[in-house]
Amino acid sequence: MTSTPDVLSCIQPTADLHVGNYFGAVANWVKLQQTHRCIYGIVDFHAITMPYDPVALRKNTRNMVIDLLACGVDPEKSILFVQSLVPEHCELCWILSSQCSFGDLSRMTQFKDKSQKLQSESGDDYISAGLFFYPVLQAADILAYRASYVPVGKDQEQHLELSRGIARRFNQRFNTDLFPEPKPLFTQTPRIMSLAQPESKMSKSAGPKHYVGLFEEEASIRKKIKSAVTDTGLPAAEETMSPGVANLFEILRACQADIAADQLQTDYQAGQLKYAQLKGAVGDALVALTEPFRRRRQALVGDEAMIDQQIRQLSEQARQIAADTLNRVRKLTGFPKSQP
Ligand code: AMP
Ligand code: TRP
Repeated sequence: MTSTPDVLSCIQPTADLHVGNYFGAVANWVKLQQTHRCIYGIVDFHAITMPYDPVALRKNTRNMVIDLLACGVDPEKSILFVQSLVPEHCELCWILSSQCSFGDLSRMTQFKDKSQKLQSESGDDYISAGLFFYPVLQAADILAYRASYVPVGKDQEQHLELSRGIARRFNQRFNTDLFPEPKPLFTQTPRIMSLAQPESKMSKSAGPKHYVGLFEEEASIRKKIKSAVTDTGLPAAEETMSPGVANLFEILRACQADIAADQLQTDYQAGQLKYAQLKGAVGDALVALTEPFRRRRQALVGDEAMIDQQIRQLSEQARQIAADTLNRVRKLTGFPKSQP
């Protein structure tokens, strides 16, 4: 596929996906492949806007490619690329930066949140200009492929709105309809909560008790679910469900184990649910879901040189589309042609 895709989404190369990432993002990516032409990116240029380690970044990027392939992102159906292997993103980012105001960027709440967090956690006053510029690069990620739909979480709504504004301003300024205004796709995805602290979102940063890794071994998955926080004693029939129990039900339903979930819910309503039973069912469902992922991942890891070669090949397809967009952009904006 070298025509523009319908759907584009990107993820930062963090270490090892957890089941929250899977249900909240990756599962949706895999599903969208059945109905749309999709392009998915691993945005390693974005990852350097916060303090980072270069060796870990390269490793995480490679791992993220493997993880996404293992989860079912299918290079026969979709394009998968690594952002830093498509240099057109940076070129477009620079050109778009003049179609985006300083004031607009100053209003981005993610910048405010992340910079405050950096200051309070490390006591460091150093906030990179890259972190401030991050949303322009995100707009370039999307507009380089002229994608119409962008599946993202609600936290990205403001960045998407900014991308739409940049597309609109560019089209008006250069009297073109080159860029469609990208629309967010807020599909219903569950928000999976921490196992140890079910009031907060499942995330890796809180520590290993809080999450289940997508490629964890069976015994470890079961052990973590067994230790998940519920509440003390049997629930009374009318009481509202505690966040820990509700989260276990959420995971069970996300795994599409609806028959088991319905039965256990009936038991819960009758005040007869044993949490060990619920945890057993959740463990079974997660092991069944992730077993093929672990198997596929095993088959993919090992030969790093071969994987890197494959990543370059996959990214080359993306580059063809992005380069075509850039040629048109250069023509519209007054730059010499870079290709004959
Ligand atoms: P992050 O690395 O936290 O930015 O997450 C990458 C993707 O996974 C984003 O699309 C998030 O919305 C999604 N995600 C992360 N944590 C969770 C969670 N606990 N439940 C659902 N989705 C999540
Ligand atoms: N900012 C997004 C996030 O943190 C990641 C991202 C970068 C992205 N570029 C994108 C998402 C383009 C969608 C489209 O989740």
